[in-house]
Amino acid sequence: MSELLRAAWESRDHARADYSNFRVGAAIEAADGTVFGGCNVESSSYGLTMCAERVAVFKAISEGAREFRRVAVVTDTPSLTPPCGACRQVLWDFCGDIEVILANRTGETRTYRLTDLIPDAFDADRLR
Ligand code: THU
Repeated sequence: MSELLRAAWESRDHARADYSNFRVGAAIEAADGTVFGGCNVESSSYGLTMCAERVAVFKAISEGAREFRRVAVVTDTPSLTPPCGACRQVLWDFCGDIEVILANRTGETRTYRLTDLIPDAFDADRLR
């Protein structure tokens, strides 16, 4: 298993999925190889919940990382879990067209380019 997937599984152990019980782990690799993990964190005010992918990205940004290569998302579910729409947007904003690697416990994996998950995305260029 790659270091990135290992980090995503490790982060998933910290998930606070108290309401959905749907535990997600993510890990993002910066251009210099540094890996930042994230897990979903749910609030009793459900709408304040934060997905694992955005936790990982925001952790990385807050630590000064600026360029990224890959992000992994893991769940212990029969099917793989692709990032939600909000996470796709944030990944696009901060990471551009990175690799998105999905995995579950059965060892199934699938790799996408982010542009395949969010084609014709809105971004800062459209604000000009
Ligand atoms: N969730 C993630 O963390 N990432 C995804 O890609 C999909 C959904 C979380 C949010 C919430 O805590 C739970 O999964 C159920 O939606």
